[in-house]
Amino acid sequence: MLKLGVLASGRGSNFQAIIDSIEAGRLNAEIKILIVDKANAYAIERAKKHSIEYMYIDPSKFSTKEDFYLEIANQLKKREVELVLLAGFMRVVRKPLLDAYPNRIMNIHPALLPSFPGLHGQKDAVDYGVRISGCTVHFVDEGVDTGPIIIQAAVPVSPDDTEEILSQRILALEHKIYPEAVKLYSEGRLKIEGRKVKILDYKLPDNFIINPPIS
Ligand code: GRF
Repeated sequence: MLKLGVLASGRGSNFQAIIDSIEAGRLNAEIKILIVDKANAYAIERAKKHSIEYMYIDPSKFSTKEDFYLEIANQLKKREVELVLLAGFMRVVRKPLLDAYPNRIMNIHPALLPSFPGLHGQKDAVDYGVRISGCTVHFVDEGVDTGPIIIQAAVPVSPDDTEEILSQRILALEHKIYPEAVKLYSEGRLKIEGRKVKILDYKLPDNFIINPPIS
């Protein structure tokens, strides 16, 4: 069974989506630990409710970022975590952790990368006036939202959308594709070749038109 470690900073609804997939028997994995960098992260309540070990690691207690990430890596390794999931972890992951888990850290981003990386993916999409946005699950490298893409899902954007409305629409899809990406990993179906992630035995949907409906 795949051993997971989850890093979060806040609400943790994607963490919950992973928990739900495991509890529903859709995902053959076990969450060994939740690590948060904020003492009041709501994700902690979710961990408590589902009897998942959690740990607050205070970044201000470390003199360098490297030391902070080394401590995270050590805690994950101690529990034999195999795959690390960033679930609303509002920091750029740095080296000791990247080195400990090469191509074994995933992130969910609320935009269709490489468009709108960074902290405000939904707002940037609304402000730009795009007609389609979505979300992306990708492996994490040293850049900001730059690693190889695993799955993306798209939603239409209306010119009248606010950041909040678009965020909700995207979030509903995040909760579907993140567990799906983890499931593919757990089944050994993801193969990284340079920037590309091949999904073994994957079929492209044949009629995939999102926006606008063309008659
Ligand atoms: C999500 O929109 C995710 O894409 C982004 O941060 C948000 C976290 O939400 N990385 P939650 O904490 O999982 O509810």
